[in-house]
Amino acid sequence: MSVVIVVGAQWGDEGKGKVVDLLTETAEAVVRYGGGANAGHTLVIGPQREKVVTRLIPSGVLHPGKRCILGDGMVIDPHALLDEIAQLREKGLLQKGELLVGHGAHVILPYHKLIEGLREEHANKHGRAIGTTRRGIGPAYEAKVARRGVRIRDLADAARVRALVEQNLDELNPLIAHLGGAGAVPDRSTVDRWIDDALAAGAQLQGLCGDASREVARHVGAGHHVLFEGAQGSLLDIDHGTYPYVTSSATIAAGACQSAGLGPTKVHAVVGITKAYATRVGGGPFPTELDDATGEAIRHAGGEFGAVTGRPRRCGWLDLPALRFGVRLSGMDGLALTKLDVLSELPEVHVAISYSLDGKELDEPPIDPDDMARAKPVFARFEGWGPIPRDAKDLVDLPTAARKYVEAIERWAGVPFHLVSVGPERQETIVLRDPFA
Ligand code: IMP
Repeated sequence: MSVVIVVGAQWGDEGKGKVVDLLTETAEAVVRYGGGANAGHTLVIGPQREKVVTRLIPSGVLHPGKRCILGDGMVIDPHALLDEIAQLREKGLLQKGELLVGHGAHVILPYHKLIEGLREEHANKHGRAIGTTRRGIGPAYEAKVARRGVRIRDLADAARVRALVEQNLDELNPLIAHLGGAGAVPDRSTVDRWIDDALAAGAQLQGLCGDASREVARHVGAGHHVLFEGAQGSLLDIDHGTYPYVTSSATIAAGACQSAGLGPTKVHAVVGITKAYATRVGGGPFPTELDDATGEAIRHAGGEFGAVTGRPRRCGWLDLPALRFGVRLSGMDGLALTKLDVLSELPEVHVAISYSLDGKELDEPPIDPDDMARAKPVFARFEGWGPIPRDAKDLVDLPTAARKYVEAIERWAGVPFHLVSVGPERQETIVLRDPFA
């Protein structure tokens, strides 16, 4: 029996979906633990290289017969979930009895998205926008922490949903009017429609909802392999990330235990996923960012456009201080390196091994995001490696320069690689260790 948490080691979009998909082969249950439809895994499957995007349901769903669980710590847009279920069912990828939605998860309602959009527009005027995905994540978590949220289980009780929505809007309407003008305040018929829609979605989800923490405990108790699928990345964590340029949930490994109601003593391994370079979407410091032709080349070679929003991702060199920080925060005992092939065309590859700030050398990011924005990366340079054989099965199959790069990162990060991904397909992977072993 083994419980493994997979977590993004950077700012999200590290290719967790592919790694989770691979590890799911030996797992009985896959649990998504944080955030909501702000995440997006693009998975490439089958000989037709068909693309499937999952936003809420763990990417382990691509394997038949696996239990997919959405933890109570998530915030769920019921319509987004229903759309995803319909899409997966149509492709024959989601069977009856595979999905369980934690009934303690919170519901994202249209006014959460409305407020987020208005806030971002307002902040944009002053150059302070977070650059969120506008999926209502922040406002839904605000309502949860303020103990006014609507939970998935509440959707079975029309009177309770109505009372909660009225209570929330009573407080939020003045804010909506302040940010967007009186015309932005929802009228009676709009609010009634929102409530009816939420209840109708709740009715459709009814048979899929239940006690997620008990189900996780049942799998762990039965000696099954259980895989936790993190969303976003370590530097977007609400407590430890580059606040305020973060998401509103715990993205580090501890968030898995909190969301699923599983004690930390039950966890056996934490695998951090890092790309061979770095990307970030939205605002916030990014010391190794490449605002030039090399950044553009990486963006195009890596297809670095948001799976949820389509936004071009900011691209830069791999950032060891940020990676070490992620390793420490989540207690990662192994890493998976993704997208090594994306750098193949570059004549030279750089890695930030430390930062220089006010005459000091730092091996981890400074706590203050303004300091992080001022920090100057200290780079190590590697010669380019050219094409990587897609059938590489061991590090010795890599071009020598690529192998030196991988070994140097492993040494500097201080934890071994479990796997190295050299292409988007499942089989384009060098497997070095099994985290479940
Ligand atoms: P929110 O999660 O939509 O509130 O966005 C907050 C910040 O997290 C923004 O900078 C987003 O771009 C970023 N973010 C949220 N989800 C993801 C993700 O799945 N990948 C990368 N960045 C994300």
